[in-house]
Amino acid sequence: MRLPEQVYKILVMGQNRFNKNIMPSTITSVGLVSSATGRFSVAPMINKTDRHCRFFMRQFSRHALLYTEMVTTNALLHGKGNYLAYSDAEHPLALQLAGNERNALARCARMAQAHGYDEVNLNVGCPSNKVKHGRFGACLMADKDRIASCIAAMREAASLPITVKTRIGIDEQDSYLFLCDFIDSVSTSGGCKTFIIHARKAWLNGLNPKKNREIPPLDYERVYQLKRDFSSLNIIINGGITTLNSAKVHLQQIDGVMIGREAYYNPGILSLVDSELFDDTDPLPNREAVIDVMLPYIEQELSHGTILGDITRHMLGLFHGVPGARRWRRYLSESAQRPGTGADVLIKALSCMQN
Ligand SMILES: Cc1cc2nc3c(=O)[nH]c(=O)nc-3n(C[C@H](O)[C@H](O)[C@H](O)COP(=O)(O)O)c2cc1C
Repeated sequence: MRLPEQVYKILVMGQNRFNKNIMPSTITSVGLVSSATGRFSVAPMINKTDRHCRFFMRQFSRHALLYTEMVTTNALLHGKGNYLAYSDAEHPLALQLAGNERNALARCARMAQAHGYDEVNLNVGCPSNKVKHGRFGACLMADKDRIASCIAAMREAASLPITVKTRIGIDEQDSYLFLCDFIDSVSTSGGCKTFIIHARKAWLNGLNPKKNREIPPLDYERVYQLKRDFSSLNIIINGGITTLNSAKVHLQQIDGVMIGREAYYNPGILSLVDSELFDDTDPLPNREAVIDVMLPYIEQELSHGTILGDITRHMLGLFHGVPGARRWRRYLSESAQRPGTGADVLIKALSCMQN
């Protein structure tokens, strides 16, 4: 193992601590490759960041890198669903894979490239029982050689960036040395250049995924230290970040910030990402104008058989923090379930909110 000298020093020294009014009017410039660096990204979230959610989120930022939900290699290679479908407006876009078998992952990476994704990410952070029993996700932190081999195979199969999303540790394997050992192997033998680190460890026994996102304490300093010790790697921090101000503070130490739950429940937070983090002051639609963009999108989707609620459920947070937001949420969630309801439910929900 070739750990940076400084890591040894640290260990030896016993320091093992290691507006609402400015958003899209037209979505013109999409697919900005320069944004695919992960300086700011929205986290992969199962049952949340599907293609409708991503299309909606894209209205708030041209630059945020968006991630799909985790897709298993089995689903992709043998399933019947169209797991790779997305609309062009979603770029820059990363596909998150879950798997543990190099050939399968390599084939999936190739498929992602053929479909035009901007990045493929391997999930080494999910602690759910199902994932654990399939021997992928967070438990693979204990099998660094396998991950390195998988990443190497994916890199050989596809030329787009292959990244890893992981935790700072699992169960009792939570020392800084363990984390460094993992990063070192996967970057050196596997060739991975970008790591997204959820700054808390995962308990594989006893905590469900939800609790694993809340109970293990966040340790941002450990991620900062990782960046200092592996300065040539692209290190992105994730976990508990809820404001752009705190994102900016992190960006003084590391290369990128990933936000999950806050972006989903309060998508308005994304509306200042372009101007504040990418120096792009081109106007974006305000909240009402987002509705104007979503109307034709929904109509088109309905004509292809999509269920209305599958799109509108992601829009409940549109007016988060604005007076009347509760009326918006209630009208939308109740009405979208009624048979025969169309895209104009958005207009009615808006007027219900404003009256
Ligand atoms: C509903 C939900 C589903 C998630 N699904 C995934 C997933 O598919 N892949 C993954 O790597 N992380 C998943 N996560 C974890 C998030 O990507 C992120 O690491 C975590 O929520 C911490 O970031 P946050 O505090 O900004 O939300 C999920 C989180 C939530 C809340």
